[in-house]
Amino acid sequence: MAGPCRLTLLDCEIDEIGALLSEVAARYSFVDDTGFLMEAERLAHGLPRRLRAFLAECRAAERPLFVIARWPVDDAALGLTPPDWRAGCADHESIHRHQLLLVLAASLLGDPFTLSSAQGGHLVNHIVPVAGAERQISAASSEELGWHTEEAGFRFRPDHLGFICLRNPQRVPMMIGLADHLVLDPAVREILRSPLFGMPQLGAAERIEYAPVLYGDVDRPYLSADSVYMVPAPGDRAAAEAWEVLGAAIDTALRPFVMEPGDLYFLDNHRAVHGRPAFLPRYDGADRWLLRVKIGRDLRASRPYRGGAGTRVIDFDRLG
Ligand SMILES: [Fe+2]
Repeated sequence: MAGPCRLTLLDCEIDEIGALLSEVAARYSFVDDTGFLMEAERLAHGLPRRLRAFLAECRAAERPLFVIARWPVDDAALGLTPPDWRAGCADHESIHRHQLLLVLAASLLGDPFTLSSAQGGHLVNHIVPVAGAERQISAASSEELGWHTEEAGFRFRPDHLGFICLRNPQRVPMMIGLADHLVLDPAVREILRSPLFGMPQLGAAERIEYAPVLYGDVDRPYLSADSVYMVPAPGDRAAAEAWEVLGAAIDTALRPFVMEPGDLYFLDNHRAVHGRPAFLPRYDGADRWLLRVKIGRDLRASRPYRGGAGTRVIDFDRLG
């Protein structure tokens, strides 16, 4: 990979952001506050001009991965990496400004949203290793997290994912596979553009819906795939073979991306799959700690499943 698009913050920009966050934090104590979320995009226009221009350019050009670097994260002020998301949400004061910045930047790409079933319906999710849950996908550590599109096959899957890295002492990378880097012959591409690849549906896991894994422009396709849960249509040999070929192509295309504390980074969920190698957490309060937000470019389709126009939580119990 030629490397992600990157903007490195200048001292004066860090000061400008700090002043904006002080203003916002004085008015809003919780990042889930509906008032804050209704206002977030307007507030985000107070971010430095160069940062706004960078995000606008990356969004318009559909950059698969882009990074805003050098936001200061004071490791001592963070306190301990929480043992799970509940602890992270309960004790959020030390990370409040980082959460606000993540949501403000995300608001220039679309609307941050979440599912009621994900970490209590909180908008900003804690990605931390959880003792005893090493083999569960969401909190895994000692198991590899296989490459996937976030919520592949879900009708409201995010258009972008946004992260801020608070801590990454072992320099555990995210593995990124870009749709642009897949080498596939036209016959395989054609099969992958057919609705032959099934995913269990969120809210109705017993129901599998079949969809293409490649879609959009023929020469520069979008990608929706999941190495763990996706299955080719039963009995369709061509689909099974194309799925194998795609898997090998993505494995070849995967590149590590190491995030440093203070990196805000954004993935286009239609243009790249992501995963993570296994690592051994220490559970000593200093483990890897990321904050994540999901971003939709247009939330109207999910409006029947959200409590109001300004509500960013999709009610999981109403899906199905
Ligand atoms: Fe993911």
